[in-house]
Amino acid sequence: MHENTQKITDIILKAAEKARRETRDEDQKLRAGKSIDWPIECTIGPGLEGAIACDSKVGYVDGSKGWLVYRGYDIFDLCAYSSYEEVSYLLLHGSLPTPDQLEAFNKKLVEYRYLNKTLRLLMGFPVEEMNAMGALRMGTILMRQEFTYRDQEAGRPAIGDAISADEDSIPMETAPTGEAKAIYEFNAAKKARKRKKMLGDASGLEACYHLLAGVPTITAAISRVRQGHMAIEPDPQLSHAANFLYMMTGKRPTPVQERIMDIALILHADHGMNASTFASMVVASTLSDIYFSVGSGIAALSGPLHGGANEQVLHTLKEIGSPDQVADWVQTASKKKKKVPGFGHRVYKAYDPRARVLGPLAGYRMRYCPEDIVKLYKTAKELERQVFRTFGHEKKIFPNVDFYSGIVYSRMGIDPSMFTPIFAVSRVAGWTARVLEYLQKNRIFRPRAMYSGEFEREYVPLEQR
Ligand code: SDX
Repeated sequence: MHENTQKITDIILKAAEKARRETRDEDQKLRAGKSIDWPIECTIGPGLEGAIACDSKVGYVDGSKGWLVYRGYDIFDLCAYSSYEEVSYLLLHGSLPTPDQLEAFNKKLVEYRYLNKTLRLLMGFPVEEMNAMGALRMGTILMRQEFTYRDQEAGRPAIGDAISADEDSIPMETAPTGEAKAIYEFNAAKKARKRKKMLGDASGLEACYHLLAGVPTITAAISRVRQGHMAIEPDPQLSHAANFLYMMTGKRPTPVQERIMDIALILHADHGMNASTFASMVVASTLSDIYFSVGSGIAALSGPLHGGANEQVLHTLKEIGSPDQVADWVQTASKKKKKVPGFGHRVYKAYDPRARVLGPLAGYRMRYCPEDIVKLYKTAKELERQVFRTFGHEKKIFPNVDFYSGIVYSRMGIDPSMFTPIFAVSRVAGWTARVLEYLQKNRIFRPRAMYSGEFEREYVPLEQR
């Protein structure tokens, strides 16, 4: 392992040790949860706060302690030792993959990353003028076309032969080998279209794999077009995180950049019944398909109370200007009861374990960073200190996953408009895992509203009103 990536593992283990010291009694043993014996009673607040919508083995969040568990594995262990490929397999299948299972899974991801037809359809829209999440949502719907009408076996070109020169896809920047190996698919494409349109199973595991692999490709293409560049074809030799960065920036990432992006993707992969996961599940519970379900998750995540806080954090840090301006800013914000982006959480009333990892990663090898990034980071550290010192402690308001992630992405040269799409790139794992799990014992979500209106009002014709 590269010596600097080993240092990143050490940072995570140190954060894990601190978290355990602060939140766990020595001999505390956590027992497996038990399935629910319906019907149950629970106290429900506005926004379904406290409501239990289903039972699940996918993941667990302890808001009072600040614990996050995926399928029984502590998030710190997964960040220290695993990869996003392993973690998304774990969320979907319930256990870490064997070497053969991981190889087969990776082969699928490599295959499904090629979305030439989908990108050709997407580029028919003014992507560069669209809201990035709007374009991403459209991309997932267009993916459904590619998946459901193509004959997955015979119709899809082999890896590396899928080049951007065929009549049905958009010109893309291909690695040199792409041109050398280019075969034109004009006839193949026509033949494939003649073939019976096989309606793929748009709500099964293959569709989940397709979305897991394809959402990063679409996100990267949107980012490239917004920068005025062409999309870049995936490189089958690169890992999920490395490919995503390569397709976003056009540069193959360093081992440290790859490792940090991989950890960020692990951290954002699942988080209980958050708004976007619940939205995905509600749509899936009507037996709509997984593409529409993931599209609903993207729509929910585009709301500023759920996604985008890391973009707002950067904006706030720049507005504050420098560490010595923080105290005054916090005082004014507190007086105006202004919500500080990147702080607070519906569930966590303790330090968000994801921020415990992203904070040190944001500050990792800070001495090699440009001055503006150093200033952002120092201002963020002071803001954390001042919020906690003033109202954070008493109101149990701590940094959440969004507080440091914007600095981590900025260090990789990623534009803030792409921060929330990156969240979606990762959360596709949690959305699809929980949808597949819920569909095993599906029941359409249909809560009630307490009617507080009137009855027996007399109808008055229009001319008498
Ligand atoms: C995510 O659900 C998930 O799991 C989401 C997520 C995931 O992984 O899917 O974790 C991702 O959504 C992270 C959160 C990103 N959003 C932000 O950082 C935006 C800023 N945060 C707040 O908008 C707020 O904290 C929420 C929306 C996240 C949670 O709000 P709640 O639970 O509805 O809390 P609340 O509004 O009832 O606040 C309780 C008190 C209030 O004070 P009082 O009225 O009691 O005096 O805490 C205060 C709030 O004013 N408060 C804050 C604050 N958040 C809550 N005060 C200052 N700054 C804040 N950020």
